[in-house]
Parts: sequence; structure tokens; C-alpha cells
Amino acid sequence: MKKLSSLFIFAVTGSCLAANPTFTVDVSQSVGKVSPTLYGLMTEEINHSYDGGLYAELIQNRAFLSDDATPVNWSAVPSSGAGAAIALDSTRPFNDKLKRSLRLTVTQADKNHPAGVANSGYWGFPVQPKTHYRAAILARAEAGFSGPLTVALVSEDGSTVYASKKISGLSADWKKFEVTLTTGKVEATTKARFEITLEQPGTVWFSFVSLFPPTWNDRPNGLRKDLMQMLVDLNPKFLRFPGGNYVEGDTIETRFEWKKTLGPLEERPGHQCPWGYRSTDGLGLLEFLEWSEDMKAEPVLAVYAGYSLKGMHVNPGADLEPFVQEALEEIEYVTGDAKTTKWGAERAKNGHPKPFKLRYVEVGNEDWFDKSGSYDARFAQFSDAIKARYPQLKTITTIGNDQPATNHIKSRKPDMEDEHYYRSADEFIKMSPDFAVKYDRYGPEVFVGEWAAYETPFVPWDDRSKKEPPTPSLKAAIGDAAFMAAMERSSDLIRMQCYAPLFVNVNPGARQWRPDLIGYDAISAYGSPSYYAIQLFSRNVGDEILSTASAETEVQGCATRVARSGEIFLKLVNPSATAEPLKIDLKGVASLASKAKVITLAGTPEDSNSITQPTQVVPVKSTVSGLKPEFTYTMPPHSVVVINLKARP
Ligand code: AHR
Repeated sequence: MKKLSSLFIFAVTGSCLAANPTFTVDVSQSVGKVSPTLYGLMTEEINHSYDGGLYAELIQNRAFLSDDATPVNWSAVPSSGAGAAIALDSTRPFNDKLKRSLRLTVTQADKNHPAGVANSGYWGFPVQPKTHYRAAILARAEAGFSGPLTVALVSEDGSTVYASKKISGLSADWKKFEVTLTTGKVEATTKARFEITLEQPGTVWFSFVSLFPPTWNDRPNGLRKDLMQMLVDLNPKFLRFPGGNYVEGDTIETRFEWKKTLGPLEERPGHQCPWGYRSTDGLGLLEFLEWSEDMKAEPVLAVYAGYSLKGMHVNPGADLEPFVQEALEEIEYVTGDAKTTKWGAERAKNGHPKPFKLRYVEVGNEDWFDKSGSYDARFAQFSDAIKARYPQLKTITTIGNDQPATNHIKSRKPDMEDEHYYRSADEFIKMSPDFAVKYDRYGPEVFVGEWAAYETPFVPWDDRSKKEPPTPSLKAAIGDAAFMAAMERSSDLIRMQCYAPLFVNVNPGARQWRPDLIGYDAISAYGSPSYYAIQLFSRNVGDEILSTASAETEVQGCATRVARSGEIFLKLVNPSATAEPLKIDLKGVASLASKAKVITLAGTPEDSNSITQPTQVVPVKSTVSGLKPEFTYTMPPHSVVVINLKARP
């Protein structure tokens, strides 16, 4: 593909030295098609992305499996311990999945002095006015005690009751109780706890305690509404799941074992996630798929491929075969007919008869970490088996072009390769003009399956990084935007791209990685400047790539056009600290509307958003007028600008 972009020429220092800064767009012909699935999302359980994040469950350690020794996140009420004691109990479990329960022994209580147990939630609870919360409790009691129990959302000190309900009818056998707690005209707060109390002495066991606020599309076991809205606003075309490291696990036993994530919640034991905490698996395989469906995004499924993070690999051949079968069955669960396939029928039983559309399967994650060199043969075994059963599917290697050639898959030609780029903003700005030059245009399609700019000097996996704010500043967003422009310029080859990680619960105990795209606590959420940069890109894109070139300027950019209407989206990124009067030269344009809509994300590099200042850096809309095929647009310092031109070639 011949493109003007190979003609990038940069000012040696600041743009103030530039004589004639110009950005040229050749409108006479398109040089490629924009991938319709270019912008998507990547997700895994990290930073309490699901438990304590998108997955709307409010009770932390709901099945008492988080810790083997103590009932973490649970405490006796009153906190003095007078009259109530709690302990983990392994006798008479509900089933072999929930192999433990919480025993509450109340020795002293009356109407005015209830005693019981409280849960601290995921760093509090989102108490909102006039809201329904659905509680589900699996409980049994000592012989002769039938209740009642009071289930309530209360203030942290217990003095204010936001909502409460009584349940009775307990017996010596396990029984499930479901009640709805409804708040009145309360003030929104996170400073709350969930309580189950008795007004008389008694012993009760709990195996599972769950509380859900209203969810997106009202799905039971569903997702948090505010976070889903933020994702939908990014207009994602695909969702890569379930990882990342999360698909691999630290060990083979703690991989994402999809079969254990299906069906009733009481059948899901959860598992230790590689980011240091236990995952409930409440957001399991079907929930991932329904999440994609709710966003109108296609699933990009990563399957476990026989390598786990602590360096274990399964030998290709007979040893690997059970894992290959596991992947084939997983694909059948996603795509199989509900009537004629075993796993399609299982999906229907779980509530989704209609098969999901699937085009891409990723074999593992970052397998360059497997120093045994087994990936080539593991990939071949998985890919051959997948294609034999599902010839329409494309397989993705996790070792991309950015890795040394010695690591690349040689025994097969993968359909697509997954590249991961975590770089400083400055590195992105430097590498972006030539980004796609290194790619073999006859090689595999490219998926930039994880990328993010950090500000510097701490890289995401550096411990010092965790002490920085969880989401990045505008400086990083400028690097992100330069990189996105580079990917969009080559989006005939780069078919999909997604930032990672997507989510962070901002409470210090919840975080493992920075930078992250969207931050939240129990009740509020905000987008980082990078979130808004992505939004600018993903919502303003045409279907044809136009050739572009920068001269005598540090401004980088890209241009796409909607073939049907001629409308052009021009995206420009000014990383410099000075305003840049940029000559925009639209070559070959026959007619141009004199007015255009503009969206600008700008500020100082240190500007950032947070829970308390969620909108310090947000896009601003404006219009420009008096446009001609050659016009000057002054780029603000440190800015990302989208100009929506109405043109005809
Ligand atoms: O995005 C965080 C981690 O970075 C992913 O789990 C892993 O694939 C990469 O190393």
C-alpha cells in the first residue's frame, strides 16, 4: 500500500521552529479499508475488575471461600463481640462446591439489642435512594430455631437502617431465602454495611449470601449499570476475554476453567486468580458472552493453551490433548446448536439457546514467557484441532511481530497475531509514525490485544507504579492517541485493537496494576483522559483510510472517510507544549462544507480525572467555519482533536 504517511518529517525541536507545519490528506483515493472491528475492549479479572467492579454482586466473600482460616470481610455484630461469635465451619456443607459455611452463634440478643454478622462489601456498599436490592441467602439453623432473621443495609456504625426485611422459616436443612431490600429517601453513600441479625439467641449457618443492586438490562446475576454505560459509550466492536494472565492462572489448576463458571451460583466454587485474590466466577463464560451481546460486540475468545504463569507448560501431544478437547468443547458451548450439540444444549439450559457468533479464537496469552519453546507445537495442536472441527474460525497466536523472530510460530501460519505494547507516552509518540512499516503485509492479520501508555518513569508492573494514581494523566492520553492514529492509518492490517487493563477499583487494597482506563469505587465511576481519547477515536471513524502526511510539525494524525457520504474524520494529536498553527491541505477534494464539527481533548500533561474530580479532562465540542480545501487550524498544546469535515472527492 502506497501511503503519504511514509513521508513524515519532523521538526527537530519544538514546533515554534517550524516554518510551515502542514498536515496533508489525499482525498482523491482511499488506500485501504478501515477494519470494521478496529475498536474493542480487553478484559480480565485484575484490579477487582469484576468482583468489586463490573459484576454487580455487593457481598465480598459471599461463599466464605476467600480464606481458609478466617471469614474475611465478615464480622460479628455488635463489634465488641458481646453476644455473637462467627467462625468458618466445614461440617454439613451445602454441596461439594461450597464446602464451607459461616457459623453464627448468638448467645445474647433481644429486640433492642440484635446480634449477628456484618459484611463490609467491596470497600463499602452503593446505598442509593429509592433503590431495590435483591438478597439471596442459603441458610440452616440449629434444631428448634426458625428465625426470624433481619437482613439490612445499615450505616457503618449500625445506627441508621437504610433498608431491612425479615426472613423466617429456617430449619435444620439448607434452604434458600430471597428478599428485596428497598431504600427510601436516603442520601447516597458508600459508608454502609450489610447485616443479618437475630433478636434472640440461636445458631445459624450461612453457605451463600448475595446482594445485587439493579443491573444492566435487568439481568439477574448481572453487571453494574454505570460501568456498562461507560463501555457502551466507547462503541466497542469486540470483547477479548477472559485474559490476559487470568486465562492462564498461576498454575494449571487455577487456570480459567470455564466449565466451573457455569450454572447456578451455588455450583460455582470460584478460583484463585493470578492477581492475588479469589474470583467468585460469578462472571463466568456465559456472562462474558452476554456482556458482549449487551454491547453488540463480538466475543474474541481466549482458550487455555497449556501454559500457566508460574512457568508450567503441558507437553504437546497426548498430555496436551485433554486441554485441546476442553477448548473444543468451550467453542461448542459458545457456538453449538442447542438441540444437536452437547455443549450447545448446556448453554440453552443455562438460559441462552441462541448460539453466539464467534470468528476468532486466541490460543493462550503471552506465550513468549514459556521459555521451554513448546508454544510452536502447542499452537499447532490447538489450531489444527480447532480448524478441523470449525474451519470457519481464525486462530490467533499470542507471539506477535514485536517479539524476537526466534519465538515466532514457524510450523503454521497463524491467521492473526496478538501484539502487546505497554510503553511510555514518549515512546509511543516516537514509534508511531513508522509503526506499521515493520509488518509483512502478506503475513498474519494484526491484533493489538493489549496496549497502554504510561507517563514515566514507573512501568505498569513496577511496585512503585501502584503508589501512583490508578488512572493516567493527559500526558499518557496523548501517547495513546498518537498510537491509535498509527493503528488507524494501518487498519487494513491491524484488524482489532484494545487498551488494557480496562478497569480499576481505586481503593488501594484493590489495585495491582496501573495505568487503567476506568476507575471506580462502590458507587461512582470516571473515565481517565485515555478513556476519552479512545472515545474520540472509536466514535469518529469512517470505513476508508485516506493517505496522510505531516511535514515540519510534531503533530501526528490519521484520516478516514465514510464512503457513502464522503464525510471525513481527521484526527490530529499535538504532543508539543506550544500551540501549532497547522496548515491542513486536503488534496483532491472537489467540495468542502465551510463549517465542521470539532471535538478537542486538551490541557496540561499532568491533568487527570479521579473519583473526586471526574471531569477535569473531558472532550469539548465546537465548530469551525470558513473552511477551504487548504485551511489553517491551530492545534492547542497537548491536544487531541477530531475534525469532522463534510467533503466530496
Ligand atoms: O494487562 C495486564 C497484564 O499484562 C495481562 O494480564 C497480561 O497479558 C499482560 O502481561
